[in-house]
Amino acid sequence: MPGNIIAVDGFSSTGKSTLASKLAKHYNFYYLNSGLMYRIISYFALNNGCIIKDKIKESQLINKLDNLNFDWMIDNKGNRSLSFDGKIFGEEMYSFEISDVVSSVAKLESVRKFLFTQQKNLAIEKSIVVEGRDIGTVVFPDAKVKFFLIADLDIRTTRRNKQIEENNISFDKKKIEDNLIKRDRTDSERKIAPLKKAKNAFEIDTSKKSQLEVFNIARKFIDSNFET
Ligand code: C5P
Repeated sequence: MPGNIIAVDGFSSTGKSTLASKLAKHYNFYYLNSGLMYRIISYFALNNGCIIKDKIKESQLINKLDNLNFDWMIDNKGNRSLSFDGKIFGEEMYSFEISDVVSSVAKLESVRKFLFTQQKNLAIEKSIVVEGRDIGTVVFPDAKVKFFLIADLDIRTTRRNKQIEENNISFDKKKIEDNLIKRDRTDSERKIAPLKKAKNAFEIDTSKKSQLEVFNIARKFIDSNFET
């Protein structure tokens, strides 16, 4: 039945993508990674002269985004994927350059408004798992199921390090940890749609749990509380 929304929010590198994509596969829902949308916009800004020496030219960026949209597309493996301006973006969005600016881009009111509308449109008449920071609080406050993921910083740093190595992007552990701390702070302290747990979200601490354990906890919670 379309219209079911599962929100997966939480801090960076707590396992949101793994859980959200596993849930989407299990329930045959769409999967939307809203963090990837902020990364794509950051990449677009960097490549279109909208970020110069760490300064973001907000109005220029928003003007350039006019008429550009996110949409669903079938990728070359036959999976439903997110596209922007007709193109699919992948692991290159997780480079240090993008991670370094993304939270500053995500603070901007016009960018959040733009992506809020895009996220709403992508979910129209769909059953969908959406991961991010403000999904259960701001974008889909009426989501049927809400999860909030937390984990210890050293475990998150190690996981992020591994993910980066797997994608052949190299940079040191200290730099990764600093980036996670900086992003968490910017995301939690910003005025608009800060990262916080929704009142009715189910919290999972993923520090000492395997991916399968986290998935099983979430699945049990959904199956015993809701009809999907
Ligand atoms: O999820 P990921 O770590 O890829 O997200 C990158 C950044 O995008 C976050 O650090 C945050 O600044 C921003 N973001 C956001 N709201 C969301 C999802 C991501 O502000 N719903």
